[in-house]
Amino acid sequence: MKKFIIFLSFLLINISCDNIESNNLSEAEISKKVSELIDSMTLDEKVGQMTQIDQRFLDTITDLSTYSIGSLLSGGGSHPKVNEPQAWLDMYNKYQEETLKNRLGIPLIYGIDAVHGHNNVYGATIFPQNIGLGATNNPELVYKISEATSLEVAATGIDWTFSPCLSSPEDYRWGRTYEGFSSDPVLVEKLGKAAVEGYQNALTNSGKKIVACAKHFIGDGNTEFGTGMNGLVDRGNTVLTTDELKEKLLPKYQAAIDANVQTIMASYNSWNGVKCHGSKELLTDILKVEMGFEGFVISDWQGIDEIPGNYKSDIIISINAGVDMVMVSGQGQPYKKFMRLLKENVEEGSISMERIDDAVSRILKVKLRNGLFSNPIVQNDNLQVIGSDDHRNIARQAVRESVVVLKNENLIPISKESKSIVVAGRGADNLGMQCGGWTINWQGGQGDITIGTTILDGIKESVSTETKVIHSKDGTDLGNVSGDLAIVVIGEDPYTEFFGDKDNLDLLEEDIQTISNLKDKGYKVLVLLISGRPMNIADHLDNWDGFAAIWLPGTEGNGVSDILFGDFQSTGKLSYPWPLNAEDGANAPENDLLYNIGFGL
Ligand code: GLC
Repeated sequence: MKKFIIFLSFLLINISCDNIESNNLSEAEISKKVSELIDSMTLDEKVGQMTQIDQRFLDTITDLSTYSIGSLLSGGGSHPKVNEPQAWLDMYNKYQEETLKNRLGIPLIYGIDAVHGHNNVYGATIFPQNIGLGATNNPELVYKISEATSLEVAATGIDWTFSPCLSSPEDYRWGRTYEGFSSDPVLVEKLGKAAVEGYQNALTNSGKKIVACAKHFIGDGNTEFGTGMNGLVDRGNTVLTTDELKEKLLPKYQAAIDANVQTIMASYNSWNGVKCHGSKELLTDILKVEMGFEGFVISDWQGIDEIPGNYKSDIIISINAGVDMVMVSGQGQPYKKFMRLLKENVEEGSISMERIDDAVSRILKVKLRNGLFSNPIVQNDNLQVIGSDDHRNIARQAVRESVVVLKNENLIPISKESKSIVVAGRGADNLGMQCGGWTINWQGGQGDITIGTTILDGIKESVSTETKVIHSKDGTDLGNVSGDLAIVVIGEDPYTEFFGDKDNLDLLEEDIQTISNLKDKGYKVLVLLISGRPMNIADHLDNWDGFAAIWLPGTEGNGVSDILFGDFQSTGKLSYPWPLNAEDGANAPENDLLYNIGFGL
């Protein structure tokens, strides 16, 4: 017996991951390696690979090796103790080194929401949110942005971004409208494909690349108002026939699959009353069989917990539906409880070993394709790209191309030789507001949350040294000003997910008051709206001399002043129709629109 065990251990060591040398294994070689691993793995090890934990909720770091944990993530705001690039890289390598001590040396895959830059990391380049990128209608630019983001993510060691979001939002009362490129699935398809390619084709100088994630499958932005959380929109019910779903919402995912996207995230919402996380028709029959998706399906954060029934049945339903890895997170249900119940379900025959082996095979193939087995520990030879001038210049170009000028009574271009310019509004000098949600922290923040250029900074940089720039948040304390132009930056405070769900999209009274303060003093007012969606401006527009939607531009606010002062012509076009009543959303009848999709001066 002893000799047999020695022989078996020798055999195992031989097929363990040390032998997997090159990044560029063929699919045949990958399949061979994976089936060897599957044959040698215990059920516990397979269950571990299907488990994803937010690093904040690890009971102890040795759990990573003890349980052969397959994945960690940093949810929004899940930072190392010090939020700076080197600390992120050290944290990644610390977790990876511990994970590699598992019996077969299977590496960790670490995921994060790098959805508009490596946006959790202090000092990273923060690009415009997707609604602004939709307005650029520029797939080559989106590719460049995703490539730059990928290099910043990989520099910190991380292997995987939960991006691009392929929502095509229709109800603007949804807090995630800005995460969609457009209400038009065709534009989403074009830009989403570019994003997948940009994320997954980028290679750092040490040859590291990352994995993208098309999300949220499916119908996340098409739910019925009132069926969501708190009686609003997020995570609600999408009502479509199968034919409608296939015609309208599948092509953008098919394009991502054809672009070799390696992971797809299941969506919290329901389709015709069935939770996507529990729908075998969606996650297996349509996604994996009909569409040919060969990567793996990740659940959303505690997404399986929302399936009706108890946690043990949630696991049965979701895994049998086609979820391959569960973002347990560890914030709600303990991850050891998840692993115990998953194992029990297999032992009791509620989940077949064949389904487990399929899920684990998919996970291992993605890790092998991404070179994780050959270079799991990351050198700190790329940190300089984070927040680099090159990347910030790409972001500045994106800001320029995302600005949509919708009214201009000969204000833009503004002379750089103006005697004086008043700059007012809550968003004039507020980096956090111009970045929006998913920035440094899950819900974003106000003011100097990271390194960047505010709209006001950009204006000051643009004008001549003779020009007097007067900054007044509410447009009152101006002193004696000779000029007659005021730029007023108003809009939405940062929000993420259901925190942004609203039943009303009116402007803030405070913003309306600021504009009135200036109009009452005889100023011409150019309004810049920072927002994650079209809002109710129809009643105010006549009072404004100029208006531009600047969405959520990110850290490079000087891209806005590039347009205001005529260094660049505005090219941005609306990627969402703008109804008279914004609550009517993208499906408002044509004659109820203030501006149609595709409009921009
Ligand atoms: C969130 C979001 C999803 C994100 C995930 C991890 O709840 O729905 O978009 O990727 O959790 O942060």
